[in-house]
Amino acid sequence: MNPLRHVAIIMDGNGRWGLKHKKSRNAGHRAGLNTVEKIIKESIRLKIKYLTLYAFSTENWKRPKKEINFLFNLLESFLVDKIEVLHKQNIKLKIIGYKKFSKKLNKILNLSEKKTSKNKTLQINLALNYGSKSELINAFKSVQKNKIGINEKNLGKYLLTKNIPDPDLLIRTGNTKRLSNFLLWQIAYSEIFFEKKLWPEFNQKDYNRIIKKFKNIKRNFGKI
Ligand code: FPP
Repeated sequence: MNPLRHVAIIMDGNGRWGLKHKKSRNAGHRAGLNTVEKIIKESIRLKIKYLTLYAFSTENWKRPKKEINFLFNLLESFLVDKIEVLHKQNIKLKIIGYKKFSKKLNKILNLSEKKTSKNKTLQINLALNYGSKSELINAFKSVQKNKIGINEKNLGKYLLTKNIPDPDLLIRTGNTKRLSNFLLWQIAYSEIFFEKKLWPEFNQKDYNRIIKKFKNIKRNFGKI
């Protein structure tokens, strides 16, 4: 049985869920947040150590301003309401991405990271304004600037995922098979599962079904 330390998730399908239920795309994002809470809870129960959630990509800025504002307000009120609860559950929150948000949100994100920085049960990496290509370009530039050898170890020092083991498992919901500029370096040997359900429909049972399959895969890492 494969050990499972790190799960990464592309939470896709919120907008379609909202429209499917004759509501707004933003209603889908709100419903998606309930799934986030369920999956955090289940990850703790399953003793998973790292959970990386793709919440906003560098490309998501192309969406209508109204939707972008809704998403960041949702995140803001989630953290204001729940950071104490997350902290009590011994959860560490880490933002991976470039913090170029409103002053208020940047402050909330920094405080949330600081408050939970010593926690040990589960590390949640929230990918916000994250894009793998710019992460890699910046990492290569830093390697060059510091005049150190171009190798995996040195590059890893400048990735946003520094000190985080690579994901064992990547799940994308929403019935779409693409990677959308997410952790392109880090998923070199991850097992990838594409799930038909939209993110707000995804639940603990689905999560466990995928994990069960993952555990039984023969992971070769290039060997035979
Ligand atoms: C992709 O669905 C989802 C997002 C861009 C945002 C993810 C946000 C959440 C799950 C809720 C907020 C989370 C936190 C942590 C506050 P989509 O909108 O691209 O769906 P579509 O493919 O149906 O359009």
